[in-house]
Formats: sequence, structure tokens, C-alpha cells
Amino acid sequence: MKLAIIGAGNVGGTLGTAWAQKAGHDIFFGVRNPSTDKTQALVQKLGGKARAGAPAQAAAAGDFIVLTTPWPQAEAAIRSLGNINGKIILDATNPLARGPDGISLEIGHSTSAGEKVQGWAKGASVFKTLNTTGFGNMAEPIYHGVKSVMFVAGDDAANKPKVIDLVAALGFDVIDAGPLRNARLLEAHAMLWIDLALTRGLGRDWAFARVKR
Ligand SMILES: NC(=O)c1ccc[n+]([C@@H]2O[C@H](COP(=O)([O-])OP(=O)(O)OC[C@H]3O[C@@H](n4cnc5c(N)ncnc54)[C@H](OP(=O)(O)O)[C@@H]3O)[C@@H](O)[C@H]2O)c1
Repeated sequence: MKLAIIGAGNVGGTLGTAWAQKAGHDIFFGVRNPSTDKTQALVQKLGGKARAGAPAQAAAAGDFIVLTTPWPQAEAAIRSLGNINGKIILDATNPLARGPDGISLEIGHSTSAGEKVQGWAKGASVFKTLNTTGFGNMAEPIYHGVKSVMFVAGDDAANKPKVIDLVAALGFDVIDAGPLRNARLLEAHAMLWIDLALTRGLGRDWAFARVKR
């Protein structure tokens, strides 16, 4: 599979590495400045499985596009992708705002980052996923043999199974979380992980998992 990953930071770099190494997918990092030492080191590390270029080049080559920019840059990043008609976008962003009380969500009751991204990415199918846990868990989602959970929300029923398979290839227990509007729930769920991890002392090495009867 050919994956365009927009952004090559904590999340983009981790996902690109995991998909290349665990699933053999070809990674094209779409970044504003592909020649930075950090991006070049990432590409080198992945050998022939990765390259880096402009976001529009990456998007044109990708079967899937994975958005991993900070929220304030998400709109510009989507608009820089060129023609994305018919493309499948996995949106990993969280609309975080930093204020006097710490980190919170900038939007969430009546819309979500996922729905905003869909509004900017007209003609593409947007799925909200890979936003509810830390990037360390994207590299190592399995704890003592138990898969941690990851959700996929999106309206495109025909393509959802492909997105679920792609996310499952990372090692997650994937749950279909319904329509894209449920990104509002997933972004709030992400906020809970962030608050527990960064403010309540749990740190980054834990994850939510599903137990059932
Ligand atoms: N960190 C986590 O554990 C985590 C977990 C789940 C979800 N998230 C969400 O994932 C997103 C990324 O987080 P992160 O921690 O990976 O951030 P990060 O380490 O700062 O990486 C962001 C990447 O996006 C790139 N970028 C910024 N604007 C761009 C644009 N217009 N076009 C292409 N690339 C652009 C940056 O490249 P430059 O060098 O050009 O700035 C950088 O490579 C955020 O929305 C965050 O809320 C984070």
C-alpha cells in the first residue's frame, strides 16, 4: 500500500515507521521542508520504504493520506494537497487549545476537527482515527499481549473496512466508532488520555483497552 503521511513529527514519523516496518507499506512523507536533517534521517532509517517531498506530491502518490499536523496548521496542510478527489484521509489531529487552565479542546460540542477537515477536503472521504492515544502507543500498541484500542469514525461505509485494516496492521484492537460526527466523542476521548497522561501522573506508557463479556 502507498501511504502519504502529511507531517513527519511525533505522530507522522511513528506511524510511517510502524507501517513500513510492520506492514511493508511504502511511505511518502509530505512536509513543508523535506530537506531538514530530521526528515532526512527518518527517510534514511526506513531505507527504500520511505521518501519525503511536498504535501501535494505525497498526496498524489498515496492510496491513503494521513493527516498528522498540529491543529493550527491542519487547514493549510489540507489546502496544500492539490486534487484529493476520491482520496481517503485519516485524520489524527486533535483541536487542542492552550489556555491558563492548561490544554483543552478548541471545538467539540457542535463540530469537531474531523468534520472541519472533511469540510476542507471536499471530494475526499475523511476518517477520524489515531488521535486517542499517544504516539508511543502507536509504535507499541500491545501491552502484555493485550491490544490497546483504537477507534475509526467515518461516513464512507464502502472504504471503512480498508481503513480499519490499515489501523489494525499497527497492532491495535480497532472499533468502528460510527459516523464522522462521532469525531466529537473521539477528540474528547483523546483529551481524557492527554489529561491523565500529562496532568494526572499516569505518564505516556499506558493505554485504553476493551474488555467484554
Ligand atoms: N503527540 C501525540 O502523542 C499525539 C497523539 C495523537 C494525536 N496527536 C495529534 O497529531 C498531530 C501531530 O502531533 P505531533 O505530536 O506529531 O506534532 P509534531 O511532532 O509537532 O509534528 C507535526 C508535523 O507536522 C508538520 N507540519 C506542520 N504544518 C504542516 C503543513 N502545512 N504541511 C505539512 N506538514 C506540516 C511539521 O513539520 P514542520 O517541520 O514543517 O513544522 C511536523 O513534521 C496533532 O494534531 C496532535 O494533536 C498527537
